[in-house]
Amino acid sequence: MSTAAGGGGRGGGGGDGKGRPYYVTTPIYYVNDKPHIGHAYTTLACDAIARFMRLDGWDVIFLTGTDEHGQKVQTSAQKAGKTPQDFCDEVSKQFKNLLTTMNFSNDRFIRTTDATHKAGASALWEILREKGQIELGVYVGWYSVRDEAFYGEAELVNGKAPSGADVEWVEKEPSYFFKLSEWQKPLLEFYEKNPDFIAPESRRNEAISFVSGGLKDLSISRTSFSWGVPVPGDDDHVMYVWIDALANYISALGYPNREGEFDRFWPADLHVIGKDILRFHSVYWPALLLAAGLEPPKRLFVHGWWTKDGQKISKSTGNVIDPLDLVDKYGVDPTRYFLMSEVPFGNDGDFSDTAIQNRINSNLANEVGNLAMRTLSMAVKNCGSAMPTPGGGGAASKALRDEDNALLASAADCLDAVRPLVGKTQQLHKALEVILQVSRNANKYLDTQAPWSLKKTDPDRMQTVLWVVLETVRHVAILYQPFMPTAAGQLLDQLGVPDGEARAFTALSRSGRDEYSLRPGAPLAKPTPIFPRIEKNAEEKMPAPELRVCGVKNMFIL
Ligand code: MSP
Repeated sequence: MSTAAGGGGRGGGGGDGKGRPYYVTTPIYYVNDKPHIGHAYTTLACDAIARFMRLDGWDVIFLTGTDEHGQKVQTSAQKAGKTPQDFCDEVSKQFKNLLTTMNFSNDRFIRTTDATHKAGASALWEILREKGQIELGVYVGWYSVRDEAFYGEAELVNGKAPSGADVEWVEKEPSYFFKLSEWQKPLLEFYEKNPDFIAPESRRNEAISFVSGGLKDLSISRTSFSWGVPVPGDDDHVMYVWIDALANYISALGYPNREGEFDRFWPADLHVIGKDILRFHSVYWPALLLAAGLEPPKRLFVHGWWTKDGQKISKSTGNVIDPLDLVDKYGVDPTRYFLMSEVPFGNDGDFSDTAIQNRINSNLANEVGNLAMRTLSMAVKNCGSAMPTPGGGGAASKALRDEDNALLASAADCLDAVRPLVGKTQQLHKALEVILQVSRNANKYLDTQAPWSLKKTDPDRMQTVLWVVLETVRHVAILYQPFMPTAAGQLLDQLGVPDGEARAFTALSRSGRDEYSLRPGAPLAKPTPIFPRIEKNAEEKMPAPELRVCGVKNMFIL
Protein backbone atom coordinates (compact mmCIF):
# COMPACT_ATOMS: atom_id res chain seq x y z
CA MET A 1 0.00 0.00 0.00
CA SER A 2 1.23 3.47 -0.71
CA THR A 3 -0.33 6.47 0.93
CA ALA A 4 -0.27 9.41 -1.41
CA ALA A 5 2.73 11.39 -0.22
CA GLY A 6 2.36 10.00 3.29
CA GLY A 7 5.08 7.38 3.29
CA GLY A 8 8.79 7.83 2.76
CA GLY A 9 10.06 10.10 0.07
CA ARG A 10 9.84 13.82 -0.05
CA GLY A 11 6.33 14.35 -1.35
CA GLY A 12 5.04 17.87 -1.57
CA GLY A 13 2.62 19.51 -3.92
CA GLY A 14 -0.90 20.78 -3.34
CA GLY A 15 -2.59 21.10 0.03
CA ASP A 16 -1.75 23.62 2.69
CA GLY A 17 2.00 23.12 2.28
CA LYS A 18 1.96 24.09 -1.41
CA GLY A 19 5.28 22.33 -1.89
CA ARG A 20 7.08 24.45 0.71
CA PRO A 21 10.06 22.93 2.57
CA TYR A 22 9.63 21.38 6.01
CA TYR A 23 12.58 19.94 7.95
CA VAL A 24 11.99 17.83 11.06
CA THR A 25 14.63 15.96 13.06
CA THR A 26 14.99 13.48 15.89
CA PRO A 27 17.98 13.55 18.21
CA ILE A 28 20.65 11.18 16.95
CA TYR A 29 20.85 8.17 19.21
CA TYR A 30 23.89 7.01 21.15
CA VAL A 31 25.00 3.61 20.00
CA ASN A 32 26.23 2.52 23.42
CA ASP A 33 23.16 0.34 23.72
CA LYS A 34 20.33 -1.11 21.65
CA PRO A 35 17.19 0.95 21.00
CA HIS A 36 14.44 1.11 23.60
CA ILE A 37 11.03 2.65 23.88
CA GLY A 38 12.37 6.16 24.53
CA HIS A 39 14.16 6.18 21.18
CA ALA A 40 11.16 4.72 19.37
CA TYR A 41 8.98 7.40 20.95
CA THR A 42 10.92 10.43 19.71
CA THR A 43 11.22 9.00 16.21
CA LEU A 44 7.55 8.01 16.14
CA ALA A 45 6.44 11.55 16.95
CA CYS A 46 8.63 12.89 14.15
CA ASP A 47 7.35 10.23 11.79
CA ALA A 48 3.73 11.13 12.46
CA ILE A 49 4.52 14.81 11.94
CA ALA A 50 6.54 14.17 8.77
CA ARG A 51 3.82 11.98 7.26
CA PHE A 52 1.17 14.53 8.19
CA MET A 53 3.06 17.38 6.55
CA ARG A 54 3.68 15.35 3.38
CA LEU A 55 -0.02 14.52 3.09
CA ASP A 56 -0.69 18.22 3.53
CA GLY A 57 1.51 19.10 0.59
CA TRP A 58 4.84 20.03 2.24
CA ASP A 59 8.20 19.05 0.77
CA VAL A 60 9.52 17.23 3.83
CA ILE A 61 12.95 16.12 4.98
CA PHE A 62 12.70 13.92 8.04
CA LEU A 63 16.11 13.16 9.53
CA THR A 64 17.20 10.67 12.14
CA GLY A 65 20.43 8.81 12.82
CA THR A 66 23.05 7.69 15.29
CA ASP A 67 25.51 9.54 17.51
CA GLU A 68 28.59 7.36 17.44
CA HIS A 69 31.53 9.20 19.00
CA GLY A 70 32.57 10.00 22.54
CA GLN A 71 33.82 8.38 25.67
CA LYS A 72 30.63 6.47 26.37
CA VAL A 73 30.64 4.70 23.02
CA GLN A 74 34.41 4.08 23.16
CA THR A 75 34.04 2.44 26.58
CA SER A 76 31.06 0.33 25.45
CA ALA A 77 33.05 -0.88 22.44
CA GLN A 78 35.98 -1.80 24.67
CA LYS A 79 33.67 -3.73 26.99
CA ALA A 80 32.26 -5.59 24.00
CA GLY A 81 35.80 -6.40 22.84
CA LYS A 82 35.24 -4.66 19.51
CA THR A 83 36.82 -1.77 17.66
CA PRO A 84 34.69 1.35 18.07
CA GLN A 85 33.87 1.36 14.36
CA ASP A 86 32.75 -2.30 14.29
CA PHE A 87 30.76 -1.74 17.44
CA CYS A 88 29.06 1.35 15.98
CA ASP A 89 28.30 -0.44 12.72
CA GLU A 90 26.53 -3.20 14.64
CA VAL A 91 24.46 -1.04 16.96
CA SER A 92 23.67 1.57 14.33
CA LYS A 93 22.18 -1.28 12.28
CA GLN A 94 19.81 -2.08 15.14
CA PHE A 95 18.57 1.51 15.11
CA LYS A 96 18.09 1.23 11.37
CA ASN A 97 16.14 -2.00 11.81
CA LEU A 98 13.87 -0.29 14.29
CA LEU A 99 12.93 2.20 11.58
CA THR A 100 11.67 -0.61 9.40
CA THR A 101 9.90 -2.40 12.23
CA MET A 102 8.05 0.69 13.36
CA ASN A 103 7.31 1.76 9.77
CA PHE A 104 9.16 5.06 10.11
CA SER A 105 9.40 7.16 6.97
CA ASN A 106 12.67 9.02 7.53
CA ASP A 107 14.20 10.49 4.40
CA ARG A 108 17.74 10.41 5.79
CA PHE A 109 19.74 8.40 8.28
CA ILE A 110 22.90 10.14 9.38
CA ARG A 111 25.79 8.57 11.24
CA THR A 112 28.35 10.82 12.87
CA THR A 113 31.05 8.48 11.57
CA ASP A 114 30.02 9.35 7.98
CA ALA A 115 32.77 11.27 6.20
CA THR A 116 30.28 13.90 5.03
CA HIS A 117 29.17 14.52 8.59
CA LYS A 118 32.74 14.84 9.85
CA ALA A 119 33.37 17.40 7.11
CA GLY A 120 30.33 19.40 8.26
CA ALA A 121 31.31 19.29 11.93
CA SER A 122 34.89 20.34 11.11
CA ALA A 123 33.61 23.21 8.96
CA LEU A 124 31.44 24.45 11.82
CA TRP A 125 34.49 24.35 14.09
CA GLU A 126 36.62 26.27 11.62
CA ILE A 127 34.10 29.03 11.16
CA LEU A 128 33.76 29.42 14.91
CA ARG A 129 37.53 29.66 15.20
CA GLU A 130 37.72 32.17 12.35
CA LYS A 131 35.16 34.29 14.13
CA GLY A 132 37.29 34.27 17.29
CA GLN A 133 34.80 32.11 19.22
CA ILE A 134 37.21 29.36 20.24
CA GLU A 135 40.25 29.54 22.48
CA LEU A 136 42.61 27.05 24.08
CA GLY A 137 42.51 26.54 27.86
CA VAL A 138 42.49 23.86 30.54
CA TYR A 139 39.36 22.13 31.85
CA VAL A 140 39.13 21.34 35.53
CA GLY A 141 35.82 20.06 36.82
CA TRP A 142 33.17 17.36 36.78
CA TYR A 143 32.20 15.25 33.80
CA SER A 144 29.53 12.61 33.45
CA VAL A 145 30.31 9.99 30.83
CA ARG A 146 26.75 8.64 30.86
CA ASP A 147 25.31 12.09 30.14
CA GLU A 148 28.37 13.17 28.11
CA ALA A 149 28.04 16.47 29.98
CA PHE A 150 30.14 18.85 32.07
CA TYR A 151 28.65 19.90 35.39
CA GLY A 152 29.44 22.73 37.79
CA GLU A 153 29.99 21.87 41.46
CA ALA A 154 26.75 23.60 42.42
CA GLU A 155 24.74 21.45 40.02
CA LEU A 156 25.66 18.16 41.67
CA VAL A 157 23.07 16.41 43.82
CA ASN A 158 24.58 14.16 46.51
CA GLY A 159 27.78 13.92 44.50
CA LYS A 160 26.00 12.85 41.31
CA ALA A 161 24.78 14.55 38.15
CA PRO A 162 21.23 15.91 38.37
CA SER A 163 20.22 12.95 36.17
CA GLY A 164 21.56 10.56 38.81
CA ALA A 165 24.55 9.61 36.64
CA ASP A 166 28.02 9.21 38.14
CA VAL A 167 30.46 12.05 37.60
CA GLU A 168 34.25 11.96 37.43
CA TRP A 169 36.71 14.68 38.29
CA VAL A 170 38.69 15.94 35.29
CA GLU A 171 42.00 17.29 36.54
CA LYS A 172 43.49 19.88 34.23
CA GLU A 173 42.76 18.51 30.78
CA PRO A 174 43.85 20.76 27.89
CA SER A 175 40.70 21.82 26.10
CA TYR A 176 39.37 24.27 23.57
CA PHE A 177 36.58 26.45 24.87
CA PHE A 178 33.66 28.03 23.05
CA LYS A 179 33.00 31.56 24.32
CA LEU A 180 29.49 30.74 25.43
CA SER A 181 29.62 33.44 28.11
CA GLU A 182 29.39 36.08 25.37
CA TRP A 183 26.05 34.71 24.22
CA GLN A 184 23.91 35.20 27.30
CA LYS A 185 22.35 38.47 26.12
CA PRO A 186 21.86 37.47 22.47
CA LEU A 187 20.24 34.21 23.59
CA LEU A 188 17.83 35.94 25.96
CA GLU A 189 16.94 38.36 23.18
CA PHE A 190 16.44 35.46 20.81
CA TYR A 191 14.04 33.70 23.23
CA GLU A 192 12.18 36.97 23.71
CA LYS A 193 11.80 37.58 19.99
CA ASN A 194 10.84 33.99 19.29
CA PRO A 195 8.30 33.04 21.94
CA ASP A 196 7.49 29.78 20.14
CA PHE A 197 11.09 28.65 19.92
CA ILE A 198 10.79 26.22 22.85
CA ALA A 199 7.66 24.27 23.77
CA PRO A 200 6.08 23.38 26.14
CA GLU A 201 6.28 26.65 28.03
CA SER A 202 7.69 25.05 31.18
CA ARG A 203 10.75 24.01 29.15
CA ARG A 204 11.08 27.47 27.70
CA ASN A 205 11.09 28.87 31.23
CA GLU A 206 13.68 26.32 32.26
CA ALA A 207 16.01 27.40 29.44
CA ILE A 208 15.50 31.10 30.13
CA SER A 209 16.21 30.63 33.81
CA PHE A 210 19.40 28.64 33.06
CA VAL A 211 20.71 31.32 30.71
CA SER A 212 19.66 34.15 33.03
CA GLY A 213 21.77 32.55 35.75
CA GLY A 214 24.91 33.28 33.69
CA LEU A 215 26.83 31.22 31.17
CA LYS A 216 30.37 29.92 31.47
CA ASP A 217 32.57 29.19 28.47
CA LEU A 218 32.01 25.65 27.28
CA SER A 219 34.74 23.03 27.02
CA ILE A 220 34.43 21.68 23.46
CA SER A 221 37.33 19.28 23.05
CA ARG A 222 38.87 16.33 24.89
CA THR A 223 42.37 14.85 24.91
CA SER A 224 41.93 11.88 27.24
CA PHE A 225 40.50 9.57 24.55
CA SER A 226 40.55 9.46 20.78
CA TRP A 227 37.14 8.28 19.51
CA GLY A 228 35.82 11.46 17.94
CA VAL A 229 36.19 13.97 15.15
CA PRO A 230 39.74 15.37 15.30
CA VAL A 231 39.89 19.08 16.01
CA PRO A 232 40.93 20.79 12.76
CA GLY A 233 44.60 21.72 13.03
CA ASP A 234 45.17 19.98 16.38
CA ASP A 235 45.06 16.18 16.26
CA ASP A 236 45.71 15.85 19.98
CA HIS A 237 42.10 16.86 20.56
CA VAL A 238 38.81 15.32 19.51
CA MET A 239 35.67 17.44 19.45
CA TYR A 240 33.37 17.25 22.44
CA VAL A 241 30.73 14.75 21.34
CA TRP A 242 27.88 17.23 21.66
CA ILE A 243 29.46 19.70 19.24
CA ASP A 244 29.98 16.86 16.80
CA ALA A 245 26.43 15.58 17.38
CA LEU A 246 24.58 18.89 17.10
CA ALA A 247 26.32 19.56 13.81
CA ASN A 248 24.42 16.59 12.33
CA TYR A 249 21.39 18.77 11.79
CA ILE A 250 23.29 20.88 9.26
CA SER A 251 25.78 18.35 7.89
CA ALA A 252 22.78 16.23 6.82
CA LEU A 253 21.78 19.10 4.51
CA GLY A 254 25.21 19.21 2.92
CA TYR A 255 26.74 21.94 5.11
CA PRO A 256 29.34 23.49 4.57
CA ASN A 257 27.87 23.65 1.09
CA ARG A 258 25.42 26.49 1.61
CA GLU A 259 23.62 26.10 -1.66
CA GLY A 260 20.97 23.57 -2.55
CA GLU A 261 19.40 21.72 0.33
CA PHE A 262 20.95 23.75 3.11
CA ASP A 263 19.69 26.91 1.56
CA ARG A 264 16.21 25.46 1.09
CA PHE A 265 15.73 23.56 4.35
CA TRP A 266 17.71 25.46 6.99
CA PRO A 267 16.71 26.66 9.55
CA ALA A 268 15.01 23.43 10.63
CA ASP A 269 11.30 23.75 11.26
CA LEU A 270 11.34 21.40 14.21
CA HIS A 271 13.80 19.53 16.42
CA VAL A 272 11.94 17.03 18.61
CA ILE A 273 13.94 16.10 21.72
CA GLY A 274 13.49 14.58 25.17
CA LYS A 275 13.60 16.72 28.29
CA ASP A 276 17.04 15.45 29.32
CA ILE A 277 18.74 17.12 26.37
CA LEU A 278 17.08 20.51 26.60
CA ARG A 279 20.19 22.45 27.58
CA PHE A 280 22.21 21.24 24.62
CA HIS A 281 19.49 22.16 22.14
CA SER A 282 18.07 25.32 23.66
CA VAL A 283 21.30 26.95 24.84
CA TYR A 284 24.46 25.50 23.27
CA TRP A 285 23.01 24.86 19.81
CA PRO A 286 21.49 28.31 19.12
CA ALA A 287 24.57 29.97 20.64
CA LEU A 288 26.90 27.97 18.39
CA LEU A 289 24.79 28.79 15.35
CA LEU A 290 24.52 32.49 16.15
CA ALA A 291 28.27 32.58 16.75
CA ALA A 292 28.85 30.91 13.38
CA GLY A 293 26.57 33.40 11.66
CA LEU A 294 23.86 30.80 11.02
CA GLU A 295 20.19 30.91 11.92
CA PRO A 296 18.97 28.85 14.89
CA PRO A 297 16.21 26.29 14.27
CA LYS A 298 12.64 27.59 14.32
CA ARG A 299 11.35 25.37 17.08
CA LEU A 300 12.23 22.77 19.68
CA PHE A 301 9.53 20.51 21.01
CA VAL A 302 10.54 18.84 24.25
CA HIS A 303 8.77 15.64 25.22
CA GLY A 304 8.66 13.86 28.55
CA TRP A 305 9.94 10.47 29.63
CA TRP A 306 8.26 7.09 29.79
CA THR A 307 8.38 5.15 33.01
CA LYS A 308 7.32 1.52 33.45
CA ASP A 309 4.75 0.74 36.12
CA GLY A 310 5.75 4.00 37.78
CA GLN A 311 9.50 3.28 37.78
CA LYS A 312 12.28 4.95 35.82
CA ILE A 313 13.30 2.74 32.92
CA SER A 314 16.87 1.56 33.27
CA LYS A 315 19.03 -1.37 32.41
CA SER A 316 20.00 -1.90 36.02
CA THR A 317 16.36 -2.25 37.12
CA GLY A 318 15.83 -4.60 34.18
CA ASN A 319 12.58 -2.89 33.17
CA VAL A 320 13.67 -1.68 29.76
CA ILE A 321 10.83 -1.86 27.23
CA ASP A 322 11.95 -3.19 23.89
CA PRO A 323 9.83 -1.68 21.10
CA LEU A 324 10.24 -4.91 19.14
CA ASP A 325 8.47 -6.81 21.93
CA LEU A 326 5.59 -4.35 21.87
CA VAL A 327 5.23 -4.66 18.13
CA ASP A 328 5.31 -8.44 18.40
CA LYS A 329 2.66 -8.43 21.04
CA TYR A 330 0.32 -5.67 19.89
CA GLY A 331 1.19 -4.92 16.27
CA VAL A 332 2.89 -1.87 14.82
CA ASP A 333 -0.05 0.47 14.41
CA PRO A 334 -1.76 -0.20 17.74
CA THR A 335 1.62 0.38 19.44
CA ARG A 336 2.10 3.60 17.51
CA TYR A 337 -1.42 4.71 18.41
CA PHE A 338 -0.95 3.97 22.08
CA LEU A 339 2.35 5.83 22.36
CA MET A 340 0.94 8.89 20.62
CA SER A 341 -2.46 9.02 22.30
CA GLU A 342 -1.92 7.84 25.84
CA VAL A 343 0.11 10.75 27.16
CA PRO A 344 -0.19 14.47 26.41
CA PHE A 345 2.85 15.09 24.22
CA GLY A 346 5.32 16.95 26.41
CA ASN A 347 4.35 15.18 29.66
CA ASP A 348 5.90 12.13 31.26
CA GLY A 349 3.95 8.92 30.79
CA ASP A 350 3.73 5.53 32.38
CA PHE A 351 3.75 2.34 30.37
CA SER A 352 1.82 -0.72 31.47
CA ASP A 353 0.32 -3.61 29.53
CA THR A 354 -3.05 -2.80 31.03
CA ALA A 355 -2.87 0.74 29.72
CA ILE A 356 -1.98 -0.30 26.17
CA GLN A 357 -4.61 -3.05 26.11
CA ASN A 358 -7.31 -0.70 27.37
CA ARG A 359 -6.36 2.02 24.94
CA ILE A 360 -6.40 -0.32 21.95
CA ASN A 361 -9.67 -1.96 22.92
CA SER A 362 -11.59 1.15 23.81
CA ASN A 363 -10.47 3.50 21.02
CA LEU A 364 -9.39 1.32 18.14
CA ALA A 365 -11.47 -1.84 18.47
CA ASN A 366 -14.67 -0.50 20.03
CA GLU A 367 -14.87 2.89 18.42
CA VAL A 368 -13.07 3.05 15.08
CA GLY A 369 -12.81 -0.61 14.11
CA ASN A 370 -16.32 -1.48 15.13
CA LEU A 371 -17.76 1.50 13.29
CA ALA A 372 -16.07 0.57 10.03
CA MET A 373 -16.71 -3.13 10.42
CA ARG A 374 -20.40 -3.01 11.15
CA THR A 375 -21.11 -0.44 8.44
CA LEU A 376 -19.07 -2.18 5.76
CA SER A 377 -20.57 -5.55 6.67
CA MET A 378 -24.09 -4.15 6.43
CA ALA A 379 -23.31 -2.58 3.08
CA VAL A 380 -21.90 -5.81 1.69
CA LYS A 381 -24.87 -7.77 2.95
CA ASN A 382 -27.66 -5.38 2.07
CA CYS A 383 -26.44 -3.29 -0.85
CA GLY A 384 -25.32 -6.06 -3.16
CA SER A 385 -21.63 -5.93 -2.17
CA ALA A 386 -21.49 -2.36 -3.42
CA MET A 387 -20.99 1.08 -1.98
CA PRO A 388 -24.43 2.27 -0.81
CA THR A 389 -26.20 4.86 -2.90
CA PRO A 390 -27.60 7.82 -0.97
CA GLY A 391 -31.35 7.93 -1.50
CA GLY A 392 -31.16 4.54 -3.11
CA GLY A 393 -30.51 6.02 -6.54
CA GLY A 394 -31.69 9.64 -6.75
CA ALA A 395 -29.34 12.65 -6.56
CA ALA A 396 -27.15 12.26 -3.49
CA SER A 397 -27.46 15.88 -2.41
CA LYS A 398 -31.25 15.68 -2.34
CA ALA A 399 -31.19 12.59 -0.20
CA LEU A 400 -29.14 14.14 2.59
CA ARG A 401 -30.92 15.42 5.67
CA ASP A 402 -29.63 17.93 8.23
CA GLU A 403 -28.34 15.23 10.54
CA ASP A 404 -26.43 13.63 7.65
CA ASN A 405 -24.91 16.93 6.66
CA ALA A 406 -24.00 17.66 10.27
CA LEU A 407 -21.99 14.46 10.54
CA LEU A 408 -20.34 15.00 7.16
CA ALA A 409 -19.46 18.55 8.14
CA SER A 410 -17.86 17.39 11.40
CA ALA A 411 -15.69 15.05 9.32
CA ALA A 412 -14.84 17.68 6.72
CA ASP A 413 -13.95 20.25 9.41
CA CYS A 414 -11.63 17.86 11.21
CA LEU A 415 -8.54 18.67 9.15
CA ASP A 416 -8.74 22.36 10.04
CA ALA A 417 -8.84 21.43 13.72
CA VAL A 418 -6.03 18.88 13.49
CA ARG A 419 -3.62 20.82 11.28
CA PRO A 420 -2.42 23.36 13.90
CA LEU A 421 -2.29 20.63 16.57
CA VAL A 422 0.31 18.79 14.49
CA GLY A 423 2.07 21.50 12.52
CA LYS A 424 2.09 24.34 15.04
CA THR A 425 1.77 23.09 18.59
CA GLN A 426 2.67 19.39 18.28
CA GLN A 427 -0.26 18.41 20.50
CA LEU A 428 -0.35 15.02 18.84
CA HIS A 429 -2.53 13.42 21.51
CA LYS A 430 -5.12 16.16 20.98
CA ALA A 431 -5.03 15.65 17.23
CA LEU A 432 -5.87 11.99 17.82
CA GLU A 433 -8.67 12.94 20.21
CA VAL A 434 -10.20 15.22 17.61
CA ILE A 435 -10.12 12.48 14.97
CA LEU A 436 -11.55 9.96 17.42
CA GLN A 437 -14.37 12.35 18.19
CA VAL A 438 -15.51 12.12 14.58
CA SER A 439 -15.78 8.34 14.92
CA ARG A 440 -17.73 8.84 18.12
CA ASN A 441 -20.10 11.21 16.34
CA ALA A 442 -20.54 8.61 13.63
CA ASN A 443 -21.25 5.84 16.13
CA LYS A 444 -23.86 8.00 17.80
CA TYR A 445 -25.39 8.83 14.45
CA LEU A 446 -25.45 5.19 13.50
CA ASP A 447 -27.17 4.21 16.73
CA THR A 448 -29.76 6.95 16.29
CA GLN A 449 -30.41 6.27 12.62
CA ALA A 450 -30.46 2.50 13.17
CA PRO A 451 -30.01 1.39 9.57
CA TRP A 452 -30.68 -2.21 10.66
CA SER A 453 -34.31 -1.18 11.29
CA LEU A 454 -34.48 0.93 8.13
CA LYS A 455 -33.61 -2.17 6.17
CA LYS A 456 -37.25 -3.19 6.21
CA THR A 457 -39.02 0.15 6.60
CA ASP A 458 -37.01 2.41 4.29
CA PRO A 459 -34.18 0.69 2.42
CA ASP A 460 -33.34 3.85 0.45
CA ARG A 461 -32.80 5.74 3.68
CA MET A 462 -30.70 2.83 4.97
CA GLN A 463 -28.41 3.29 1.99
CA THR A 464 -28.09 6.99 2.71
CA VAL A 465 -27.19 6.36 6.32
CA LEU A 466 -24.60 3.73 5.45
CA TRP A 467 -23.04 5.94 2.80
CA VAL A 468 -22.85 8.90 5.20
CA VAL A 469 -21.07 6.78 7.79
CA LEU A 470 -18.66 5.28 5.28
CA GLU A 471 -17.90 8.71 3.88
CA THR A 472 -17.12 9.81 7.44
CA VAL A 473 -14.88 6.77 7.90
CA ARG A 474 -13.04 7.81 4.72
CA HIS A 475 -12.15 11.11 6.38
CA VAL A 476 -11.10 9.41 9.59
CA ALA A 477 -8.93 6.90 7.72
CA ILE A 478 -7.19 9.59 5.66
CA LEU A 479 -6.43 11.54 8.82
CA TYR A 480 -5.17 8.45 10.64
CA GLN A 481 -2.56 7.70 7.96
CA PRO A 482 0.26 9.65 9.64
CA PHE A 483 -0.29 7.80 12.92
CA MET A 484 -1.23 4.31 11.73
CA PRO A 485 -0.09 4.13 8.12
CA THR A 486 -0.78 0.47 7.43
CA ALA A 487 -4.10 0.16 9.23
CA ALA A 488 -5.42 3.41 7.80
CA GLY A 489 -4.30 2.27 4.34
CA GLN A 490 -6.14 -1.03 4.78
CA LEU A 491 -9.26 0.82 5.80
CA LEU A 492 -8.99 2.99 2.69
CA ASP A 493 -8.46 -0.16 0.61
CA GLN A 494 -11.68 -1.59 2.03
CA LEU A 495 -13.52 1.60 1.14
CA GLY A 496 -12.15 1.40 -2.38
CA VAL A 497 -10.18 4.66 -2.12
CA PRO A 498 -7.38 4.50 -4.72
CA ASP A 499 -3.75 5.21 -3.86
CA GLY A 500 -2.33 8.63 -4.59
CA GLU A 501 -4.11 11.97 -4.52
CA ALA A 502 -7.36 10.46 -3.24
CA ARG A 503 -5.55 9.71 0.02
CA ALA A 504 -3.91 13.12 0.44
CA PHE A 505 -5.46 15.86 2.54
CA THR A 506 -6.69 17.68 -0.55
CA ALA A 507 -9.28 14.88 -0.76
CA LEU A 508 -10.70 16.07 2.58
CA SER A 509 -11.62 19.63 1.88
CA ARG A 510 -15.27 20.45 1.48
CA SER A 511 -14.68 21.33 -2.12
CA GLY A 512 -12.85 18.06 -2.64
CA ARG A 513 -15.75 16.14 -1.22
CA ASP A 514 -17.57 15.72 -4.47
CA GLU A 515 -14.50 14.82 -6.43
CA TYR A 516 -13.17 12.31 -3.95
CA SER A 517 -16.27 11.19 -2.07
CA LEU A 518 -17.12 7.50 -2.09
CA ARG A 519 -18.58 6.39 -5.38
CA PRO A 520 -22.04 4.83 -4.97
CA GLY A 521 -22.25 1.43 -6.57
CA ALA A 522 -18.48 0.78 -6.48
CA PRO A 523 -17.78 -2.85 -5.60
CA LEU A 524 -17.13 -3.67 -1.93
CA ALA A 525 -15.44 -6.80 -0.66
CA LYS A 526 -16.35 -8.53 2.59
CA PRO A 527 -14.37 -6.58 5.22
CA THR A 528 -11.87 -8.06 7.63
CA PRO A 529 -11.32 -6.45 11.02
CA ILE A 530 -8.47 -3.97 11.02
CA PHE A 531 -8.47 -3.11 14.69
CA PRO A 532 -9.14 -6.38 16.49
CA ARG A 533 -9.69 -6.46 20.22
CA ILE A 534 -6.77 -7.46 22.39
CA GLU A 535 -7.43 -10.39 24.58
CA LYS A 536 -6.07 -9.59 28.02
CA ASN A 537 -2.80 -11.38 28.67
CA ALA A 538 -2.38 -11.78 24.96
CA GLU A 539 0.97 -13.44 25.41
CA GLU A 540 -0.61 -16.44 27.07
CA LYS A 541 -3.20 -16.89 24.38
CA MET A 542 -1.33 -16.51 21.13
CA PRO A 543 -3.40 -17.62 18.15
CA ALA A 544 -1.93 -20.17 15.76
CA PRO A 545 0.97 -18.61 13.83
CA GLU A 546 -0.85 -18.29 10.51
CA LEU A 547 -3.75 -16.50 12.19
CA ARG A 548 -1.58 -14.47 14.43
CA VAL A 549 -2.41 -10.80 14.23
CA CYS A 550 0.15 -9.75 16.78
CA GLY A 551 -1.36 -11.56 19.70
CA VAL A 552 -4.85 -10.30 19.26
CA LYS A 553 -8.12 -12.03 18.64
CA ASN A 554 -10.18 -11.09 15.62
CA MET A 555 -13.46 -9.90 16.97
CA PHE A 556 -15.96 -7.19 16.29
CA ILE A 557 -19.43 -6.35 17.44
CA LEU A 558 -22.18 -6.29 14.86
N1 MSP B 1 23.02 11.41 21.45
C1 MSP B 1 22.23 12.28 22.22
C2 MSP B 1 21.42 13.22 21.35
C3 MSP B 1 22.23 14.05 20.39
S1 MSP B 1 21.21 15.03 19.39
C4 MSP B 1 22.20 16.05 18.62
C5 MSP B 1 21.28 11.48 23.11
N2 MSP B 1 21.03 10.24 22.73
S2 MSP B 1 20.14 9.20 23.57
O1 MSP B 1 20.18 7.99 22.78
O2 MSP B 1 20.62 9.09 24.89
O3 MSP B 1 18.71 9.76 23.69
C6 MSP B 1 17.97 10.11 22.59
C7 MSP B 1 16.56 10.49 22.93
O4 MSP B 1 15.86 9.43 23.56
C8 MSP B 1 16.46 11.69 23.84
O5 MSP B 1 15.56 12.63 23.28
C9 MSP B 1 15.89 11.13 25.11
O6 MSP B 1 15.09 12.06 25.77
C10 MSP B 1 15.06 9.98 24.59
N3 MSP B 1 14.80 9.02 25.66
C11 MSP B 1 15.67 8.19 26.28
N4 MSP B 1 15.00 7.51 27.27
C12 MSP B 1 13.70 7.91 27.30
C13 MSP B 1 12.55 7.50 27.99
N5 MSP B 1 12.57 6.61 28.95
N6 MSP B 1 11.36 8.07 27.61
C14 MSP B 1 11.27 8.94 26.55
N7 MSP B 1 12.33 9.33 25.89
C15 MSP B 1 13.59 9.02 26.37
O7 MSP B 1 20.81 12.02 24.08
